[in-house]
Amino acid sequence: MSVAPLAGNGKITVPDILSRKTRSLDGSFVTKQKITSLTAYDYPTARLLDEAGVDILLVGDSLGMVVLGYDSTLPVTIEETVHHTRAVRRGTKRALLVADMPYGSFHVSVEESIRNAVRLVKEGGAEAVKIEGGERRLELIARLVEAEIPVMGHVGLTPQSVNALGGFCVQGRTSDAARQLERDARAVENAGAFCIVLESVPRELAAQITQKLHIPTIGIGAGPDCDGQVLVFHDFAGLTLGHMPKFARKYANLAVEISRAAGDYCDDVRAGRFPTDAESYHLPVERHERTPAPERS
Ligand code: KIV
Repeated sequence: MSVAPLAGNGKITVPDILSRKTRSLDGSFVTKQKITSLTAYDYPTARLLDEAGVDILLVGDSLGMVVLGYDSTLPVTIEETVHHTRAVRRGTKRALLVADMPYGSFHVSVEESIRNAVRLVKEGGAEAVKIEGGERRLELIARLVEAEIPVMGHVGLTPQSVNALGGFCVQGRTSDAARQLERDARAVENAGAFCIVLESVPRELAAQITQKLHIPTIGIGAGPDCDGQVLVFHDFAGLTLGHMPKFARKYANLAVEISRAAGDYCDDVRAGRFPTDAESYHLPVERHERTPAPERS
């Protein structure tokens, strides 16, 4: 069993995230401090990101593509998500921990969806779940919130709909699509979500939606006017081996570092430079004297 750390001492909670956005005197919404979010899938990464002060750690179903090597997010299972959420839970003290509900885990019935979300909370230690989809998810989001499970919405490019959308492309570019996206975002808010991810939508549309919603918007490929930003860890750290989307900024180049380090290690082992005597264990001195020294080639 995993248990979320208690609020206090700077612990980020769902009410904290909601309170980042307030209504100003002229009725418009303003963000007091932008929300930062990164995905995480394991214990050491979670610890590093948590200690660096990231507000929300998301065990995204991008797990399938960046960690498990699938072609899309569709094969990710609830078991895989629980497993990785537990690892991230162990490394997270301050950040809010959100787990993505994978494809198929919330598409059969509301009851089964709630059971799966409860697993992410009880077994994984998630403090909230993320659900892809807009108007169609209204009832489900409301029922999860009723079951005390906070929900992060996700509209725009929703990778679980890749087959229906026909690929990973920018959403909301026509006026009809933009109106639908606004309706979707509004439905997610009305259903009781505490924040919403806007993925791959034009900056202007994301800004409009951000102005209209009272819950914070968290953008990924949605421009700088959202109330917060999220990036996939492997894009951010330079560990993505294939295509990088235009919006993903590399804050480090770990793939180059790891390749260099692995090459150096192989060279050192092959040349007998690793390990050195200082990196070896030794017998106690008295036994040492009685043991014949190994022959050197
Ligand atoms: O799965 C994921 O990593 C996500 C983020 C891109 C928001 O959904």
